[in-house]
Amino acid sequence: MKIDILSLFPEMFAPLKESIIKRAVENKKVEINIINIRDFASPPHYKCDDEPFGGGAGMVMMCEPIYKAIESIKTVDCKIFYMSPRGKKFSQQIAREMSKFNHIIILCGHYEGVDQRVIDMYNMEELSIGDYVLTGGELPAMVVTDAIVRLIPEVITPESIVEESFSDNLLEYNQYTRPAVFKNMAVPDILLSGNHKKIEEFRKSQSLEITKKNRPDLLK
Ligand SMILES: C[S@@+](CC[C@H](N)C(=O)[O-])C[C@H]1O[C@@H](n2cnc3c(N)ncnc32)[C@H](O)[C@@H]1O
Repeated sequence: MKIDILSLFPEMFAPLKESIIKRAVENKKVEINIINIRDFASPPHYKCDDEPFGGGAGMVMMCEPIYKAIESIKTVDCKIFYMSPRGKKFSQQIAREMSKFNHIIILCGHYEGVDQRVIDMYNMEELSIGDYVLTGGELPAMVVTDAIVRLIPEVITPESIVEESFSDNLLEYNQYTRPAVFKNMAVPDILLSGNHKKIEEFRKSQSLEITKKNRPDLLK
């Protein structure tokens, strides 16, 4: 899979060079390219934003550099997403669907956002990571990329994906590791019993309890 991210601030993407994502790239499970939109702006000023028509606060990212950047990387089967607080709310289900694409392009907005014409031109899908407004689409693009990459086959063990929050509309059970007693707090006995059936039942009931408490909406 190939993920191209278009941004005016490519240096913000250092976190994608660490840990599991770094390994996925090294093992060629995914190719991630950070593309600087400014490289496609015109000299001498390489301007990428301008005042909004109709007035109002802030600046708007211009069509031309984004158009040229997309034209330089698009493929016949690519799907283009625009990170935006107006978008459809990103979820584990959407991450699963996105992880099956061969090539995605993610556009990061900044300032007041992006000229609507370039969004319409490529029929971009707007994606939001939550009901709040951030300064730019870079953090949302990293959130989406991270969520997608760990779902690509062989990036992490398949069992980890099956048994985690949001599979079966449940949140995950509590996790414990060594030591078995920490500051007088013992791990539940059942987890040390070796009885896999009982452990599974215990974890399932914990999952249900936690979901009811924190996210009852998932059970509807
Ligand atoms: C300050 S925001 C623009 C907000 C826009 N004027 C509005 O009111 O909807 C700048 C950029 O940050 C990104 N952004 C901000 N919040 C986001 C969110 N919740 N999800 C995804 N992207 C977001 C988008 O790319 C957006 O173009």
